[in-house]
Amino acid sequence: MQQRQLIIFVLFITITYATQINYFDAQADVQFLPDPITIFANLIQLWTDVTDCPSSACTCQVKANVTSDNDIYPVKFSSEKPNIGSVDIDDLQPNTLYSFTISCIGTTQTITRYIRTGYGHPSKPHNITIILNSKRLKLSWSPPLLPAGPINNYRLTIDQQPIIDNIPKNQFSYDMTEDYIYGQTHIFFLQACNINRQNHSICSNPNDGNVIFPMPITTTLSQGATTPKSSSCILSCSKFLLIFIFFCFFLFN
Ligand SMILES: *[C@@H]1O[C@H](CO)[C@@H](O)[C@H](O)[C@H]1NC(C)=O
Ligand SMILES: *[C@@H]1O[C@H](CO)[C@@H](O)[C@H](O)[C@H]1NC(C)=O
Ligand SMILES: *[C@@H]1O[C@H](CO)[C@@H](O)[C@H](O)[C@H]1NC(C)=O
Repeated sequence: MQQRQLIIFVLFITITYATQINYFDAQADVQFLPDPITIFANLIQLWTDVTDCPSSACTCQVKANVTSDNDIYPVKFSSEKPNIGSVDIDDLQPNTLYSFTISCIGTTQTITRYIRTGYGHPSKPHNITIILNSKRLKLSWSPPLLPAGPINNYRLTIDQQPIIDNIPKNQFSYDMTEDYIYGQTHIFFLQACNINRQNHSICSNPNDGNVIFPMPITTTLSQGATTPKSSSCILSCSKFLLIFIFFCFFLFN
């Protein structure tokens, strides 16, 4: 009987004083956030719940393979809730798998999580070319060299006009819907876009995917020059004709 009591007592001591890592993941225990998952393109915030630390404050660290040195990040514990800790692991690459291992003073227990960072800004679409294909301009490209995600769509802006946002990810060319007018210069901004877990469209820098289709050379140049001339002639001729009719009207009345 006495022995049983002793065993229970020893068990109680061990349970009470062994530090316990109850929780370790990239999810905050807060109700007010619309999305409590704390995984971003370049940052992962890890949360932990540690009980029965040997001293008044818990001492834990996270080892992550951010660089080849397996950097160590100290966990910060909150003063209001001393068993809740968090750690920011930053300078991460988008859409990349990392391993995170937590360990604490007072226990040999560790927890390891493998977490992939979120999608990021892709680099510009690669190899953007523009050609005059019969009468219409044709823009073509290849996927970005650094996609930072699966690429959701391409978006194109022509001469500041409303954006053509829904070019599917497996389409690598765009034909303009209107015939090219010789002498006109068009400015194109082509972007590659990912959609992140916060449902935001994150695209490559438009200025990186900027192409200009200028006035084509020689033969087309003269054509371009004649078009406005003839149209201005029509205008001045008709004006002249109006004045002539006006004068005739006065003369013969
Ligand atoms: C980190 O380690 C995991 C598991 O070993 C591995 O799959 C992952 O590619 C590593 N990440 C980096 C950035 O080295
Ligand atoms: C770029 O595109 C052109 C035309 O589609 C193609 O001939 C060329 O090989 C491409 N270059 C690269 C580096 O992809
Ligand atoms: C994401 O955004 C699109 C359009 O902006 C919307 O139609 C869709 O419902 C959103 N999805 C979520 C899960 O919020």
